[in-house]
Parts: sequence; structure tokens; C-alpha cells
Amino acid sequence: MLVVYYSSSSEYTHKFARKLRHPTQRLPLLTRDEMPEIDEPYVLITPTYGAGPNRGSVPKQVKKFLATAKANRTNLLGVIGAGNTNFGQNYCRAADLVAAKCNVPVLYRFELLGTPEDVAKVDEGLEELCQRQQRSEI
Ligand SMILES: Cc1cc2nc3c(=O)[nH]c(=O)nc-3n(C[C@H](O)[C@H](O)[C@H](O)COP(=O)(O)O)c2cc1C
Repeated sequence: MLVVYYSSSSEYTHKFARKLRHPTQRLPLLTRDEMPEIDEPYVLITPTYGAGPNRGSVPKQVKKFLATAKANRTNLLGVIGAGNTNFGQNYCRAADLVAAKCNVPVLYRFELLGTPEDVAKVDEGLEELCQRQQRSEI
């Protein structure tokens, strides 16, 4: 299962994604860069960047990616949230917002780099999703 992810210069999400057994594609760091168009089913991993109660938590790069092409929204199967539980109620809020907007489930949440257990669970979940997807295509 293809995993598309955004990771800022702190690269926690990048380090997590690198450990997955599945193919990954990183979104550009700069919002002005061209965003890819994804033409196959995929799962998105997004960190949350909250900035005050009235500001969005979804990284601008993720918003631009989803707005760039209809395919990026229709091929999205689910969202995985990266965050930090220190943010309390706003833990992984970006994943909740994207999932609600695109009408897909939040599949998993992990903190910072994630643990080896998080990596194993996500790998397993992605494998299941892949198999379910293949069955539905037959
Ligand atoms: C300014 C700032 C705001 C953040 N806001 C939130 C937040 O609202 N909720 C949350 O769960 N994590 C929040 N985080 C934590 C990041 O989502 C977390 O560190 C994530 O692993 C960063 O991923 P990245 O290094 O791949 O960009 C925030 C981090 C920063 C620096």
C-alpha cells in the first residue's frame, strides 16, 4: 500500500515512514513546490501543527496536496496521525480534520518517531488494507 506523508524539517514522520515495509512518497517541504498527483489508492500520514485556537492544525503542504488534484482526494483510503500527546485535546488533530473532510477513517495515531510496535502495527494494518483493496477490485 502506498504511503504518502508530509514531514517538516524536524523529520520525525520521515524517520517513522522510512521504517515501513510499504512504498512511501514524501510531500515537498516547501508549499510553493509542485505537489504530486497520486493515481492509486494510498494512505496519508500527517503530523499536526497547531498554532492557537483559531488556526488550522493541518500543514499547508497537506492542504495544497489535497487541493491540487481530485485524484488525491478520491484515492485517499485513510489517514494516520503523527503528533505529541503534550498537546492534549489537539493530539493528532490534523488527522481528524483531514479524515472528516475527505470522509475516510483515521487508521492510527502515533507520537513523534513512533515505537517499533507502532511501526509493526501500521505495517500490518497497511497489509490488511492492501488485501481488502485487491479483493474489492476483483
Ligand atoms: C509549533 C508546533 C505545534 C504543534 N502542534 C501540535 C498539535 O496541535 N497536536 C499534536 O498532536 N502535535 C503537535 N505538534 C507536534 C508535532 O506534530 C510532532 O512533533 C510531529 O512528530 C512532527 O512531525 P515532523 O517532524 O515529521 O514534522 C506540534 C509541534 C510544533 C513544533
